[in-house]
Amino acid sequence: MIRAFDLTKRYASLTAVDKISFEIPRGQVVGFLGPNGAGKTTTMRLLTAYLPASAGRCEVMGHDVAEEPLAVRRSIGYLPENNPLYEDFEVTDTLHYVGKLRGMTDPARRMERVKTVLKACGLKSVVGKKVSELSKGYRQRLGLAGAIIHDPDVLILDEPTSGLDPNQVLEVRELIKDLKKEKTLLLSTHILSEVTATCDRIIIISAGKIAADGTAAELSGSLQNKNRLYLEMKGPAQAVSEALSTLPGAARVYPDQDGGGRSGFIVESTAETDLREAAFNLAAEKRWPILAMSQKTLSLEEVFRKLTQEQPQS
Ligand SMILES: Nc1ncnc2c1ncn2[C@@H]1O[C@H](COP(=O)(O)OP(=O)(O)OP(=O)(O)O)[C@@H](O)[C@H]1O
Ligand SMILES: [Mg+2]
Repeated sequence: MIRAFDLTKRYASLTAVDKISFEIPRGQVVGFLGPNGAGKTTTMRLLTAYLPASAGRCEVMGHDVAEEPLAVRRSIGYLPENNPLYEDFEVTDTLHYVGKLRGMTDPARRMERVKTVLKACGLKSVVGKKVSELSKGYRQRLGLAGAIIHDPDVLILDEPTSGLDPNQVLEVRELIKDLKKEKTLLLSTHILSEVTATCDRIIIISAGKIAADGTAAELSGSLQNKNRLYLEMKGPAQAVSEALSTLPGAARVYPDQDGGGRSGFIVESTAETDLREAAFNLAAEKRWPILAMSQKTLSLEEVFRKLTQEQPQS
C-alpha cells in the first residue's frame, strides 16, 4: 500500500529525512512518532507528492510518487499539519471545492459524497457556517472530511488531534477508528495514548532516521533488559521489602505505586528470571496476603524517551 525505499530529503545542509525504508500493508494503522523536528511532516509530504525526494523513492498503491504524482494524490487522503482551510468558505462549499481539486468532476457524485462525509464526520450541525466560525474540533473534523471526500484507500494524517480538548480528542479518535475499518492509515501524533488506542503498529523517527518499528509490545520488549515484578503484600512494609530482597535472583527491591495510588514494591531481576512463584511461596509462608502482582513492562512513554532522548535535535 505504502512503500518507502531509502527515502531522503535534504534542505540545504540539513538532512531532514535520512534514508528511511518501510512498508505499510493494506488495512494497517500506523502511528508515526518522533520529537519535534524529527522529520514526520517532511516524510508525509514526500509520500503525498507535495515535496520531491532528494534521494530514494516511495510508492503508494503501486504508483511511484515521483512518476505518477496525480495518481498518488487521488489514492491518498491527506490532512496536513495545521489543517489549512479557506476561512471565508462555508462548510459544504469547502468540501465541494476539495472534491473538485481531487478530480471529482461529476456534480451528482460529489453531492452524494459530501452528504456521506458530513454525516460520517459529525458535521451536519455546522452546515451553513463559515470555516472562520468553527471551533477547533469542528475545523479538524472538516479537515478530515475533506481528506476522505474522494474515498481514498490510504489516509495520511499529520497530527489529527493536535490542539483539541480531551472530549474532542476522543471524538476525532472515534472517527479515526471508524475509518480504519476500510483504510490504510499513517498518522503522526505527540499523544502517546492515542497510538495505543488506535494503532496496530508504531514507527518512531528521530533525527530523520527510523529508531524503531513494531507493535507497542514489541518495542517495549526489545528495550527491556530487566524483569520488573510489581508486588503488593499485606504485611509490615519493612519486613516485606527485606523478605523480597532474599528471593533467589532478586537484584533490587524498591517501593512503587501502582495506578491506583496504593503502595507496593518493584522487584527487579534479570530478564530471564521469573520470580512470581517464589513470591507466592514467600507470601504463603509469611501469611502476607498478596493484594496485587503484575509484570511491569516499559510504557510507550519510556520507550519513546529511551529511543529519542539523546539524539541531536536540529
Ligand atoms: N521548508 C523547509 N526548509 C528548511 N528546513 C525545513 C523545512 N521544513 C522542515 N525543515 C526542517 O526539517 C526538519 C524536520 O522537520 P519536520 O517538520 O518534518 O519535523 P516533524 O517531525 O514534523 O516535527 P513536529 O513534531 O514539530 O511537527 C526540522 O529540522 C525542520 O526545521
Ligand atoms: Mg510535523
